[in-house]
Amino acid sequence: MNSLKEKINQACFNLSSGNLVVFPTETVYGLGADSEQVNAIEKIYVLKQRPKNHPLIVHIAPEGKLDYWADFVPREAYLLTEAFWPGPLTLILKRAVHINHIVTGGQDSIAVRCPSHPIAQELLRSFISGKANGQGGIAAPSANKFGRISPTRLEHVHDEFSSEIAMGISVLDGGATEFGIESTIVDLSRIQENYPPTLLRPGNITSKQISDTLGREILTVNESSVRSPGNYRHHYRPKTDLKLISTEQLNRAIDSQNGILLGKGKIAIVAYSSKPNNFTNKNLAWFSLPENPLSYGNKLYDILRILDQQEFSRIVLQIPPKNGSWEGIHDRLNRAGEHLFYQKK
Ligand code: TXA
Ligand code: MG
Repeated sequence: MNSLKEKINQACFNLSSGNLVVFPTETVYGLGADSEQVNAIEKIYVLKQRPKNHPLIVHIAPEGKLDYWADFVPREAYLLTEAFWPGPLTLILKRAVHINHIVTGGQDSIAVRCPSHPIAQELLRSFISGKANGQGGIAAPSANKFGRISPTRLEHVHDEFSSEIAMGISVLDGGATEFGIESTIVDLSRIQENYPPTLLRPGNITSKQISDTLGREILTVNESSVRSPGNYRHHYRPKTDLKLISTEQLNRAIDSQNGILLGKGKIAIVAYSSKPNNFTNKNLAWFSLPENPLSYGNKLYDILRILDQQEFSRIVLQIPPKNGSWEGIHDRLNRAGEHLFYQKK
């Protein structure tokens, strides 16, 4: 068996030759290409079946310089990188002129992130050491087909791209990822036009942590007019019908008419609370997720993939608590499914 060092060297060789690499980050697995090779990046779009106007995140090493990627680096970017890099935070900045349009989906902004996962860092450092100017990055979306759930284990990536991996994509295994949901994305690209920092995608780093660090209010994407192509309502979907339900509704539905209110056929209930003692219905199967948002996020995509492979007619998921630490999870759940019952606003 090759050592990790040998695998990383092989992965760097593949990147330099214009091929793709699957690598772990602390959020989800990425499918990466050299951010300077147009042909390599085109392969990502083809493989993922991703529309070309969906920009990619460039992953950089801790030694990477923001002003290599961005035309203008606001003070806010330094405050946030100081507080949260390396880690699960992506910044959107004004694109430097030399960055190819294919990376940025044709936009005048660029997404950059410095991952904290040791294998991702080792890969980035080795890759950049081969660059003449000492700068470089790996453009990488999550390693899944467009619109599907991001992979949090290497097995998930194999489920998505088995034949492509067999045909020579390098694969680095880091086990299960720590956070399990994608990075928080903050847009700082229009600060010079007096546009406030904007949360485009919530994640483990919360909007409160961002606004506390910046010492000012931030907008969320719904309040802003910033174009965020990846922010489709129906991103991150399992194949099985997924319905969201409040705790009160779940308890009532289980008690009533043998759970028929939850739907017909075999139903998976995904709850963060424990199974009630009187729970005996054979058509309902109970799966528990942890009550703590970090551990919940770490398990969420894995359980949705496991349930997708079983014969459930529907997954009914208990809506977790509504406080700040859960905001990234709420965002993904609202994209993954709909409310089972009408919700009063
Ligand atoms: O945790 C993560 O961020 C993972 C790991 C692999 O780093 N990556 C990830 O990439 O989730 P992806 O491509 O699946 O999602 C990136 C999101 C997309 O919604 C994309 O539209 C948005 O970032 N994005 C990238 N560049 C942007 C830009 N210039 N302006 C606005 N949104 C941008
Ligand atoms: Mg993705």
